Amino acid sequence: MHDFKYRERDLYCEDVLIQDIAEEVGTPFYLYSYNTLRNHFLVFDEAFKDIPHMICFAMKANSNLSILKTFIREGGGLDIVSGGELYRALLVGADPRKIVYAGVGKTKEEIRYALESDILMFNVESPQELFLIDEVAEELDCKARVALRVNPDIDPMTHPYISTGLKTHKFGININNALKEYKLAESLEYIEIVGIHKHIGSQIVQISPFVDALEKIIFLAKSLKEAGINIKSLNVGGGLGITYKDETPPHPRDLAAEIIPLLSDTDHTIIFEPGRVIVGNAGILVTKVLYTKLGEGKSFLIVDAGMNDMIRPCLYNSYHEILPLRENSTSRKIVADVVGPICESGDFFAKDRVISELKRDQLIAVMSAGAYGFTMSSNYNSRPRVPEVLVKGKEFFIIRQRENYEDLVKGEEIPEFLL
Ligand code: LLP
Repeated sequence: MHDFKYRERDLYCEDVLIQDIAEEVGTPFYLYSYNTLRNHFLVFDEAFKDIPHMICFAMKANSNLSILKTFIREGGGLDIVSGGELYRALLVGADPRKIVYAGVGKTKEEIRYALESDILMFNVESPQELFLIDEVAEELDCKARVALRVNPDIDPMTHPYISTGLKTHKFGININNALKEYKLAESLEYIEIVGIHKHIGSQIVQISPFVDALEKIIFLAKSLKEAGINIKSLNVGGGLGITYKDETPPHPRDLAAEIIPLLSDTDHTIIFEPGRVIVGNAGILVTKVLYTKLGEGKSFLIVDAGMNDMIRPCLYNSYHEILPLRENSTSRKIVADVVGPICESGDFFAKDRVISELKRDQLIAVMSAGAYGFTMSSNYNSRPRVPEVLVKGKEFFIIRQRENYEDLVKGEEIPEFLL
């Protein structure tokens, strides 16, 4: 469900004609629907209302302050992976006791910052990290709350780059060694064990990997209990997929129906870290056709957004629907590659796509761009990063300005000897 719909021949976001936004902010830009964002969060929350739970939005999917604020206002927490994400989270007023911190490479400085901020817990990915957290907590004379991230060796059946729960991956602690590492954690004076964490991958469109992984960590929780280690929370990570093309991912309600019964004889708080399912279909990338060009047996639509603005098609060969902001009155279709201006052949949004014939200056929407869109953008080819705009009802708000050329060189210095 989302709020990008045609009225007659024009694409609207909620009650705003997207073309009007383009006229004011120029292209390219990211555009989000507040209503879709909020609904997605509330639907997820509602699905699990019958069990004690906490939703920590995975802010790597989209870390714009206004978007984070949307979820925080509804009671959401945040899943972070860096000091920079913690800074954003605190800046926007997130409750530190609803922040969980994952990642295989937390630095000492980041650990200190998180402890000083009194976050809810670290999701610890290795014994060495555990020792370091204990050491920093001792320096600060506090207890560090931790969950161990276990690797349950489950295949999430998704793209290999975004699959994380197999034992060959760098993530987490092999579930077979978990009891040993929990005992280690228990022996450390400045560590307080509070939970178990797992996250097996992203864009998962079947229920069974979630069920299989949860069964494994429930079993682990029982073994811990027998060993005298009582935990308060089970963090089941994120990963629920969305429809980009013709995938039929489970609705959060379907997921809830399968996993809630598994939890019937536990009293743990269940932590969720959804990212994509909340923001993915709540955002689009609007870009303009600069040129059309006839290649060998196909056409190229050269647009003003590039792989630096949205890298998913290049990196994962991912499919994103492409829609014209104004549907043509004739229905002539062509087969085209939709490509950006960057000097790389990987700079594409669609390949061999059957698409309405478009002319120079016409605008198109790259759909389902709300997750891992702006957050993965860069300044490659010295291209200023694009603005982000939020629509609410009949109004729109620029929630991030377009960068300018001065922004591109901010912080650079030429040493004396070169002058
Ligand atoms: N929790 C942890 C520990 C994670 O590593 C991730 C995503 C999530 C939660 C959220 O997963 P989600 O609900 O969004 O699937 N750049 C890739 C996706 C990378 C996902 C990384 N981890 C993409 O564009 O598809």
